[in-house]
Amino acid sequence: MKHIILGISGSISAYKAADITNRLMDKNFQVNVVMTKAATAFITPLTMQALSKNHVYTDVSQERNPSEIVHIALPQNADCILIAPASANIIGKIAAGIADDMLSTLVLASKSIPKLIAPAMNHIMYDNEAVQDNLKILQKRGWIIIEPREARLACGAYGKGALATVDDIVHSVMSACCRTED
Ligand SMILES: Cc1cc2nc3c(=O)[nH]c(=O)nc-3n(C[C@H](O)[C@H](O)[C@H](O)COP(=O)(O)O)c2cc1C
Repeated sequence: MKHIILGISGSISAYKAADITNRLMDKNFQVNVVMTKAATAFITPLTMQALSKNHVYTDVSQERNPSEIVHIALPQNADCILIAPASANIIGKIAAGIADDMLSTLVLASKSIPKLIAPAMNHIMYDNEAVQDNLKILQKRGWIIIEPREARLACGAYGKGALATVDDIVHSVMSACCRTED
């Protein structure tokens, strides 16, 4: 059984993380969900807990088990990290090395496991030089970027910024985290 950390950030497509969780569990992954505060406005931790059958982490200062520190222990015990959907904000924070919530902090505390990130945002945000530069930084550091699709976006505009399909995301995770000999 592979162990994946699924980071969810504040995007309208956060509800798709429920389907991603189901699909990864079908593939025999143990899924530990970590949500930003903004993500909890789009989909509840309770939903993600019920689907993943695991506690959902939302707060870096909430330590339920005195024998470990979650943001250190979680990535140490994980085979890979997926952030889907990834907001412009979390992409920028990771690129800048900021650690001000559970998700951004545990990313900094993770070593050389496969890391995948699926951006989702308005097409103007996605095209913004800051976002593109930040994605290049992540790619240079070994992150696998799961490119967004061109589609009708939540704001009504058509452009590149829609979260990749659940199929593409699950396929990318399988290729990155499950070598055939594993
Ligand atoms: C209805 C709505 C939809 C949003 N969708 C997105 C989105 O798809 N991508 C994005 O980068 N930000 C989106 N935002 C803005 C983020 O939620 C906001 O930048 C937030 O600070 C992100 O925080 P986080 O990265 O900690 O999750 C949306 C905001 C609202 C109100």
